[in-house]
Amino acid sequence: MANSLGDIDAFEVPFPGTPDAPVDRVLECIDVRCESPDVKTFVFRDTELNGPRFVAGQAMLLTLDMEGERVDRTFSIASAPGAIANNHTLELTLKRQPAGRVTRWLHDELKPGMCVRSRYPLGVFRLDTMPQGPIALVSAGSGASPLMSMLRTLAHHAPGQDIAWFHAARRAEDILFADELATLQTRMPKLQATITLSQPGPGWFGLRGRVSRRLIAAAMPDFFTREVYCCGPTSFMDDVRRIHAADGARHARFHVEHFGAAAVPTSPADSAALGADTRFNITLGEKHFTARVGETILMAASRQHVVIPCGCASGICGTCKLHKRSGVIDMRHQGGLSTEDEAKGLILACSSRPLSDLALDF
Ligand SMILES: Cc1cc2nc3c(=O)[nH]c(=O)nc-3n(C[C@H](O)[C@H](O)[C@H](O)COP(=O)(O)OP(=O)(O)OC[C@H]3O[C@@H](n4cnc5c(N)ncnc54)[C@H](O)[C@@H]3O)c2cc1C
Ligand code: FES
Repeated sequence: MANSLGDIDAFEVPFPGTPDAPVDRVLECIDVRCESPDVKTFVFRDTELNGPRFVAGQAMLLTLDMEGERVDRTFSIASAPGAIANNHTLELTLKRQPAGRVTRWLHDELKPGMCVRSRYPLGVFRLDTMPQGPIALVSAGSGASPLMSMLRTLAHHAPGQDIAWFHAARRAEDILFADELATLQTRMPKLQATITLSQPGPGWFGLRGRVSRRLIAAAMPDFFTREVYCCGPTSFMDDVRRIHAADGARHARFHVEHFGAAAVPTSPADSAALGADTRFNITLGEKHFTARVGETILMAASRQHVVIPCGCASGICGTCKLHKRSGVIDMRHQGGLSTEDEAKGLILACSSRPLSDLALDF
């Protein structure tokens, strides 16, 4: 499949592998770079020669063995697909969560020469085809990771693209990819980068404050005309979406990536039909628990200490697949199940809300 961009190989992958066709791979860490006080980039080499194909913006699953327990976490790929196609390398840019099980271990223990297991690519947040019009990449904190993959891809394949990068950080030392952004701006005439700091120190002359319509208008007066790719905390993305929509932009032109549990909204009809005190009885194999109205099966299970394996909590990785034997659910996932899986009666616990009592199995 050719597109207007010429020599594109990894970029023009028709569709990512679904969790139906998982590829378990071994990645060797070959370098670690400090990006900010609590963010590091890990550079991996794929130990297979046929590097996996992914689309900029997608994520992968790392599977670690921690004290005899399998632990899965999803991370966005920050490098461009071209890097894996050309030299089998791939980068993840990870924030160390102070009480985080996996990111603390990766930051403190993972060194060049060590290997981790992985499965990818995953997710519907992706730069599938070259955007026809201007785009906006809007991020907060480590949400810059998948957007950096997109920007690096665009820098290679469409350096003349009109791109506005808007990034929110706390302090100047927390800004990610600052040097690379400055370099890219010299090569990409229509790349405009704006940073806002919520806790600016003395000597900061850029924008300050949390994301708002005023700040967005100052950075991108034509924001509503842009195709937006947004990643950051949920409240940040909700604010950015509201600002985009308030100026008349279409919902379909706003793409988000959640780094944690994405809300599965209860429809007004369901809310009206179910009283707030309703409880659903759930049987999972030999275990029994209850779910409140609006809760996902995963949330209800973890509240009652019933373990369901989870890799992303946002419907993209397929780790929380369960068989539904009976009952009614409302499921909204992000590509973590194929249509064949759905036809077989599989559901995703993280993306399904019960609408009746349920009988489930692993
Ligand atoms: C699609 C997707 C892409 C992602 N991409 C990235 C990325 O590029 N970079 C990145 O850094 N992250 C990314 N994430 C987030 C990542 O998957 C992890 O959720 C995150 O890094 C935390 O993992 P952890 O094991 O370190 O923390 P966990 O152990 O899962 O803890 C998560 C949070 O809970 C808190 N916590 C843990 N234990 C307790 C406790 N006992 N009491 C109270 N609080 C507690 C921790 O402080 C932490 O804030 C992504 C997530 C998704 C779904
Ligand atoms: S945990 Fe990833 S799809 Fe549910």
